[in-house]
Amino acid sequence: MKTVTLSTLKARKQASEPFSCLTAYDATFAHAAGEAGIEVLLVGDSLGMVLQGHPSTLPVTLDDICYHTRCVARGKGGSLLMVDLPFMSNATTERLLSDAGALMRAGAELVKVEGEAWMAEGIRELTRRGVPVCAHLGLTPQTVYQLGGYKVQGRDSERAAQILEDARTLVEAGASVILLECVPASLGRAVSEALEVPVIGIGAGPDTDGQILVMHDVLGVTHGRTPRFVKNFLAEADSVEDAFRRYHDDVKARRFPAPEHCF
Ligand code: KIV
Repeated sequence: MKTVTLSTLKARKQASEPFSCLTAYDATFAHAAGEAGIEVLLVGDSLGMVLQGHPSTLPVTLDDICYHTRCVARGKGGSLLMVDLPFMSNATTERLLSDAGALMRAGAELVKVEGEAWMAEGIRELTRRGVPVCAHLGLTPQTVYQLGGYKVQGRDSERAAQILEDARTLVEAGASVILLECVPASLGRAVSEALEVPVIGIGAGPDTDGQILVMHDVLGVTHGRTPRFVKNFLAEADSVEDAFRRYHDDVKARRFPAPEHCF
């Protein structure tokens, strides 16, 4: 695959061509995802749940994320490498800059941070120093205890308007990408149409510019309750790489997410 950059994602948006994103935590799966054409890989703090067995992403440390980033960076081929800033990296601007620096040194090409409009200052400081940022809005798993669980966000018009406004504010502050998690499809479409930067969705409907899933969900190996927005692509595939390719192809053809995966 040709090397994917932020410019590639912008061009995809301008051409109305959806792009595929997937979490990755090690070199072998990152290589398989790249071979399947996945354009963006995320070293997500979901690793706390799917690799470490925690009930949330909160226990994940900067060292954990750096370790998995180095692993993925060695295997990833041309995919763009996005990496999560862990819980409390955004406690102060000083810590945000220092943690983002560690992720970039480990191989990140884009850092993802959770937070609403108040993150604008931190995002401004990061982008000023050459660190591209993806701002994660909607259901932000690092605030799961405050949200009272993994629940759809933006169902009522006031909260939906707030999420759209926050997205605008963070793009103005310098965010290059927005990620929207678990929001109604109508809000996914509204945010994507309102912004010039690419919007990646997970449980945000079919009209966002890119789609992302957690790798374990794509392979159907997650235990416990399966969220509505996931699909097991391995069920009809004959290998892991084939499952990744089917996911990629379905995103490209806008076959995924289907109505049954949306809110
Ligand atoms: O950590 C993660 O895997 C994520 C995705 C759910 C988008 O943030």
